[in-house]
Amino acid sequence: LKIGILGTGDVGTNLGARFVQLGHEVKLGSRTEEKAQKWAQGKGPKAYGGTFADAAAFAEVVFNCTSGSVSLEALKLAGEKNLSGKVLVDVANALNFSNGELTLTVANTDSLGEQIQRAFPSAKVVKALNTMNIRVQVDPNIVHGESDVFICGNDSGAKTKVTEILGWLGWKAPIDLGGIDRARGMEALFLFWYSLRVKYQSALFNFKIVR
Ligand SMILES: NC(=O)c1ccc[n+]([C@@H]2O[C@H](COP(=O)([O-])OP(=O)(O)OC[C@H]3O[C@@H](n4cnc5c(N)ncnc54)[C@H](OP(=O)(O)O)[C@@H]3O)[C@@H](O)[C@H]2O)c1
Repeated sequence: LKIGILGTGDVGTNLGARFVQLGHEVKLGSRTEEKAQKWAQGKGPKAYGGTFADAAAFAEVVFNCTSGSVSLEALKLAGEKNLSGKVLVDVANALNFSNGELTLTVANTDSLGEQIQRAFPSAKVVKALNTMNIRVQVDPNIVHGESDVFICGNDSGAKTKVTEILGWLGWKAPIDLGGIDRARGMEALFLFWYSLRVKYQSALFNFKIVR
C-alpha cells in the first residue's frame, strides 16, 4: 500500500518506519520537506520524504499524525484535492498544555475528528490509535495480554480498510464505535489516559474492554 504520513513527531516517524518494515511504501510529510527527507535516509527504497502535500498526493491512505491543535492547518497544507476520496486516519489529539493544565482545544459537543471531516468532506475520516502511546500503537504485544483499539467514522468501507491496516500492526479487530461524532469520546479518553500516564510514570499500558 502507498501510505502518506503527515507528521514528523514520534507518531509519524515510528508508524512510518513500521509500515516500511512491513513492506509498504511510505512518504512522510512535514511543512518543509527537509525534516521528512531526513527521516527517509537509510530506511531503504520504500521510504520517502516530502511536504505535507507531497505525502498526501502520493498516498492511497493518509495518516494525520500532526499536533492536534494545528491539524486543520497541516491538512490545509496537504491540500483538499490530495485528500479527496482517500481514507484519512486521524491519530491526533487536540491538546493544550498551557498554564500547567491539560485541556482539549475541542471537546464535548464537537471533536477534532468531526472538524476534519467537515473541513474535508470528500475525505473518508477514520479516528483510530489516539488512545494509546505510539510504542503500543506499533506493537500491541508490548503490553501484557490482549487490549483494545477503537475506531469511528462515517464510511464503512474506510473502516474496513483501517481494520485491515490495524491487523498488519498486530491488532485484533477494533471496536467500531460508529460515526465520526464518536471521536468526542475517543478524544476525551486522552484526559483519563494522561492521569494513568502520570500515576504509572510510564506510557506502556492500554485499555481493555470486558463485558
Ligand atoms: N506521542 C504519542 O504517543 C501519541 C499517541 C497518541 C496520539 N498522539 C497524537 O498524535 C499526534 C502526533 O504526535 P507527535 O508527538 O508525534 O507529534 P507532535 O509534536 O504533536 O506534532 C508534530 C507535527 O505537527 C506539525 N506541526 C506543528 N506545528 C504546526 C503548524 N503550525 N502547522 C502545521 N503543522 C504543524 C509538525 O510539522 P513539521 O514536521 O513541519 O515540524 C510535525 O509534523 C498528536 O496529535 C498527538 O496528540 C500522540
